[in-house]
Amino acid sequence: MSEKLRVGIVGASGWMAGALAVGVEYDAAGYDTEKRSGNKNGQSVVTALCDLNAPVMDKVRDELGLGQAKCFTSYTEMLASDVVDAVVIAVPNHLHVPLSIQALESGKHLFLEKPYATTREGSHKLTAALEGCSLTTKLDYIMVHYDEQEKLRQLIEQRAFGELASIHFTYRHPIQAGQSEGQKWKLSREKSGGAVPMGICHAIAQTVFLIGESPESVICQTRAPKIREFDYHTQIDLMITFANGVVGLVQGNIDFAEKYDARHTVIGTGGQFDYTPHNPLESRVSWSSKALGRKYSTDPTFAKHHLDSGDVWKHQCSRTIQDFVALAREGKKDSLLGLDSPLVQRVEAIIWAAEESAAKGSQPVALTVG
Ligand SMILES: NC(=O)c1ccc[n+]([C@@H]2O[C@H](COP(=O)([O-])OP(=O)(O)OC[C@H]3O[C@@H](n4cnc5c(N)ncnc54)[C@H](O)[C@@H]3O)[C@@H](O)[C@H]2O)c1
Repeated sequence: MSEKLRVGIVGASGWMAGALAVGVEYDAAGYDTEKRSGNKNGQSVVTALCDLNAPVMDKVRDELGLGQAKCFTSYTEMLASDVVDAVVIAVPNHLHVPLSIQALESGKHLFLEKPYATTREGSHKLTAALEGCSLTTKLDYIMVHYDEQEKLRQLIEQRAFGELASIHFTYRHPIQAGQSEGQKWKLSREKSGGAVPMGICHAIAQTVFLIGESPESVICQTRAPKIREFDYHTQIDLMITFANGVVGLVQGNIDFAEKYDARHTVIGTGGQFDYTPHNPLESRVSWSSKALGRKYSTDPTFAKHHLDSGDVWKHQCSRTIQDFVALAREGKKDSLLGLDSPLVQRVEAIIWAAEESAAKGSQPVALTVG
């Protein structure tokens, strides 16, 4: 494709959509809303914005320098207008499945904010709609596109830590539910899908990404919120066993934390890796490897972009969206984070098995996903 990919941003008046719109329109340096400037990227352009809240959408269009974008308050009209080749969906979670299916049926490439679905039935419905689909799709598990995670995965594959035994991931993220009155949907199980689809799915995705095997069983325990008025359990402890015998322990909490914290540890027979996000940058990563002759110590140069702060505007959101744009322009499917990719489908299977395990008093639930 020689021309830019034309992208419609859906949920355009919302908090997340701004970060995604900037990722589509500008290069990696982003857009300075105060100076009202940024370098356009050569690959993609925001040609449409869509939201039910028209006044805020107009404001976003001006603030982000998206003057060429046409504004729609009807998603169906936007899809029918022929001004977009692809859509970026960042609406409340319970709308992800119906709006995604509509996009696929209209022949649009699809970048979907997480989560994939808010119910097991919805998840199956979307998976069925993807059968035989040759469009480019991507689910926004942004952390997969951190170079810290890419390098860690390479080391695991090279057996730098010996035989892998376990990966521990914590995801403490007091999610934003008060940016606007409209964001209160995040407190509702029906609209958000619960704590795992709402946020902890990111840590599960990382665990699956690093282990790179199919999950075989899940045990899940949940606890009620302590601070805010969620109508569902917000503290989740998960034990996932994989086909290669490796155990993934994921602890999540979307209610409270001193600040966003996605720390992780990899343990193998010949080494260990620790990522501690609250440390100063130069001491965030520490690791050892018998195979590489490295004693346990900090590594300030491990990765260029290991700046995981939970700030999607500042960190790597554009990298994820630009990966999608490049694939869509080439007419390629995304083997890493495509909606029908092994990673995304394994995470989906874990999410719904976890829900089943919690409902059965933390009994193990077996999985049958490839
Ligand atoms: N990947 C990440 O790290 C990350 C971070 C934050 C949020 N998210 C996801 O982004 C999505 C949006 O979250 P948010 O915090 O921006 O929420 P938000 O409530 O701020 O924004 C949602 C927007 O969708 C609009 N909307 C609702 N129904 C619509 C419809 N039928 N058609 C068009 N627009 C509609 C609302 O008016 C609102 O402007 C959620 O799915 C959330 O899970 C992902």
